[in-house]
Amino acid sequence: MSELDVVVTGGAGFIGSNLCHQLVERGHRVRVFDNLRRANLPAIQGLIDDGSITLIDGDIRYRGAVAAAVAGADVVVHLAATSINRSQADPAESVDIDVRGSEHVFSAAADAGVRRVVFASSASVYGPPETLPMREDDPLRPQTPYCLGKLAGEHLLQYYGRRAGLEWNILRFFNVYGPGQHTDAYYTAVASIFLDRILRGEPPVVDGSGEQTMDMVHVRDVARAVVCAVESPSTGNICNVGTATQTSVAELAQMLIDEVGVDITPEFRPRNVLVARREADVSRAAATIGWAPEIPVRQGVAEIVALARESLR
Ligand SMILES: NC(=O)c1ccc[n+]([C@@H]2O[C@H](COP(=O)([O-])OP(=O)(O)OC[C@H]3O[C@@H](n4cnc5c(N)ncnc54)[C@H](O)[C@@H]3O)[C@@H](O)[C@H]2O)c1
Repeated sequence: MSELDVVVTGGAGFIGSNLCHQLVERGHRVRVFDNLRRANLPAIQGLIDDGSITLIDGDIRYRGAVAAAVAGADVVVHLAATSINRSQADPAESVDIDVRGSEHVFSAAADAGVRRVVFASSASVYGPPETLPMREDDPLRPQTPYCLGKLAGEHLLQYYGRRAGLEWNILRFFNVYGPGQHTDAYYTAVASIFLDRILRGEPPVVDGSGEQTMDMVHVRDVARAVVCAVESPSTGNICNVGTATQTSVAELAQMLIDEVGVDITPEFRPRNVLVARREADVSRAAATIGWAPEIPVRQGVAEIVALARESLR
């Protein structure tokens, strides 16, 4: 694989910072474009300091700034987005960032002659699934401005693909977890929230019966899927990125308790949950971009417990 100039919007975030390390290891030159609102700068500071990546403090809501950042790039990876929670608190801002901002990224890339765009979409575009495992051709019923923005982004990118010959790959991430995750979004960060409580000797609080399931996929597996989408000869693919296994919230709580090795019983709190069950069919990613998950949930959970323990020492 030849070295590429890659711009990563949102590259200072949870998934982006992991991606930066993998892209640099693969020999690519990386420019991060991020407004630093939810950045995890320490995770990429070493790469900035040794000159492996360049950081541009900018916002995708400003098209001129995006255009300047993507000039001369071979590939743009578009990760910058608002969070589900924030999109419900401020739908107008979500439209500004997730729809208009994404349009800026795609049109600027097309105008600059960028070869390929990889877009981070989300399993939340499916809404409540009718059948499991969830396949890319299943019906899409997005439930929040964030999910609508992701679906709009998918369509806008395909539009610029048709209009400007831009190559693209779209990845629908399931429930991404791992070291460095924010703890403010209940559903995606549930592992970190549970763990914080267990390590303080408090019971993890499980919403509903705890039977609701997630398809938890480790952030390093997700970053590797993006690398595959960047480098693969195959383009024009929409691919699920998950582990293809269901983990119930109650199972996750128990896994964390077992791993920490304490005698705690989870607490159950009645609450309506947005998506009852999730499990990805990941066969398309394997067949197209050549990606498959490698980190089983139990191994990923053991790793975050070990890291959390180390940080308490
Ligand atoms: N974490 C998950 O479980 C998950 C699941 C599905 C999809 N995704 C998608 O993957 C991508 C990365 O997610 P993440 O978990 O790393 O999120 P994150 O919040 O950690 O990272 C997003 C980054 O984008 C930056 N950003 C936000 N708004 C911006 C703007 N207007 N202009 C420039 N930069 C901006 C933030 O500062 C942050 O560094 C997002 O598009 C997200 O929607 C994540």
